[in-house]
Amino acid sequence: MFTDAVKFFTEFVRHPRQLGSIIPSSGYLKKRITRMADVAQAQLVVELGPGSGGTTRAILQAMPADATLLSIELNEGLYQLTGKIADSRYIAHHGDAAQLADILATRQLPEPDVVISGIPFSTMDTATGTNILATIHQQLAPGGRFVAYQVSDQVDRLNTFYGTSARSMEVEWLNIPPLRIWCWHKP
Ligand SMILES: C[S@@+](CC[C@H](N)C(=O)[O-])C[C@H]1O[C@@H](n2cnc3c(N)ncnc32)[C@H](O)[C@@H]1O
Repeated sequence: MFTDAVKFFTEFVRHPRQLGSIIPSSGYLKKRITRMADVAQAQLVVELGPGSGGTTRAILQAMPADATLLSIELNEGLYQLTGKIADSRYIAHHGDAAQLADILATRQLPEPDVVISGIPFSTMDTATGTNILATIHQQLAPGGRFVAYQVSDQVDRLNTFYGTSARSMEVEWLNIPPLRIWCWHKP
C-alpha cells in the first residue's frame, strides 16, 4: 500500500491536473463513498479514476459476491497498478471516462446501477466535463446512483441532468484535503 501511494505521488508530480490530488483517499472517505452509492445493492458498478486502487478495493469489499466492478483509468502507470487486483468480479480498463458508452458496449455490459467518480472536473474544460456527466446520466440504469467526490464544486455546477431533489451532498473532513461527496439519483 505504501509503494502504491508513492506511485500515486510520482504520477501526481508528472500529471498534476490529471490526478487532481496529491495522495489517495482516506479510509473514512472510502467508507462514505460506498455507503452513499449503496454499493451493497448494486449489480454493476463503474469506477472512473481508480488511481492506485484504494477506492477500488473498498468498492469490491462492499459490493455483493455476484456483482461486477469495471474501472476506467486514464493514467497508464496507475492502470497497471489496478490491473494487479485479483478478484474475479473486477475488470480494469485503460482509457478515458469520456468513452464510457463505447467501453460498456464493447465489453457487452448492461447499464450500471452505480457510477463512482474521482476524476477532477475542476481541471478539465467545461465542454469535456459536461460531456462526461451527460454520458454518465445517459448510461446509468433507472434508479441508479452517481457519486462524485471533489474539492471543487465544478461537478455540481455542470451536472444539471438530474432534478435538485435527486441530489444530496456530504463532507468528509477526515481526508487530505477534506472533500465534498455528491450523490445524484436517476429516477
Ligand atoms: C483524485 S484521483 C482519485 C484516485 C482514487 N480513486 C482515490 O480516491 O484514491 C483521480 C484519478 O482520475 C484519473 N483520471 C483523470 N481524468 C480521467 C479520465 N478522463 N478518465 C479516466 N480517469 C481519469 C486520474 O489519473 C486519477 O487516477
